[in-house]
Amino acid sequence: MSPCELTLPWCGDAVLSLIGNTPLIPIHFEPEGVTIHAKCEFLNPSGSIKDRLAQSIVLDAEKRGLLGPDSIILECTSGNTGIALAMVGAAKGHRVAILMSESASIERRRLIQQFGAEVILFETTSGYQTGIDLSRRMAAGDSRYFLPRQFENPLNAADHEHTTGLEILRQLPERIDAFVAGYGTGGTLAGCGKAIKARYPEARVVAMEPAEAALLAGEMPCCHGIEGVTGGFIPPLLRQAPLDGDIKVKSSEALAMTRRLSSQFGLLVGTSSGANVAAALRVSRELGPRARVVTILCDRAERYFSTRLFNNDPDIHPI
Ligand SMILES: Cc1ncc(COP(=O)(O)O)c(C=O)c1O
Repeated sequence: MSPCELTLPWCGDAVLSLIGNTPLIPIHFEPEGVTIHAKCEFLNPSGSIKDRLAQSIVLDAEKRGLLGPDSIILECTSGNTGIALAMVGAAKGHRVAILMSESASIERRRLIQQFGAEVILFETTSGYQTGIDLSRRMAAGDSRYFLPRQFENPLNAADHEHTTGLEILRQLPERIDAFVAGYGTGGTLAGCGKAIKARYPEARVVAMEPAEAALLAGEMPCCHGIEGVTGGFIPPLLRQAPLDGDIKVKSSEALAMTRRLSSQFGLLVGTSSGANVAAALRVSRELGPRARVVTILCDRAERYFSTRLFNNDPDIHPI
């Protein structure tokens, strides 16, 4: 008998109760005279905003009878979704295999493996699409695979609309003037954007893009150093986002802001969080000092030890 069974009949998935209801904190930037409201998604149990999507897709698949004892959850991801699916799979007793680009940091691979999931690497040349195509070929040839399809699964955006978005509205009840976030699948921008616009139609919903791969701004995708966002194409879910504009953030600016968040505010977060805050600061300056601008701190810094975030020399440790 496990220690759990002494007090409860079954508690293998108790970790799932830690997902969501993350704090929204004010970050006050003295010199700029601006306060940014940051949703602390890095506090989810596997360390990122992706825990929400992983839980909602796996529970839905269980409900619809799509996950049997032989099933393998197979997803292509830059890392955070893989870590989240691996955690949910471990808690719910499902096998998980994750397709990852070779450029994803080694820490992410190790975390996925620590949860008992399998990592399959693919070459990075054509971005996410290579991995997505590969996952579809694998699933076509083997009925054990279940594909969460985070890039097109409507549950991704719907879950953000009904959990992340509603939490933000509860946490900042008086007024919201803007919501600013980067996009990987576009689920965060689509879901939170819809929830916020439904309550505050005048609020601006703004996409953060790496300046080196500003696809919404009409530029060609290129290598950038903001891991987790903008994978070389405009994802289908992003087209549902009620966007009012987009802001380009250079990778160097994202790194500098991420380091500032850690050294000045004690927030040990990843590079896309720094990029989001840099973009939110710009929107806030445009809207004025009283503006209530919300953004997302997406994940923890520990998964970037081997990247440029922890080493200023780009030649030795390129992202
Ligand atoms: C670190 C990080 N930031 C931001 C995002 C963007 O989130 P979404 O997929 O909801 O657009 C992701 C998604 O992969 C991510 O891993």
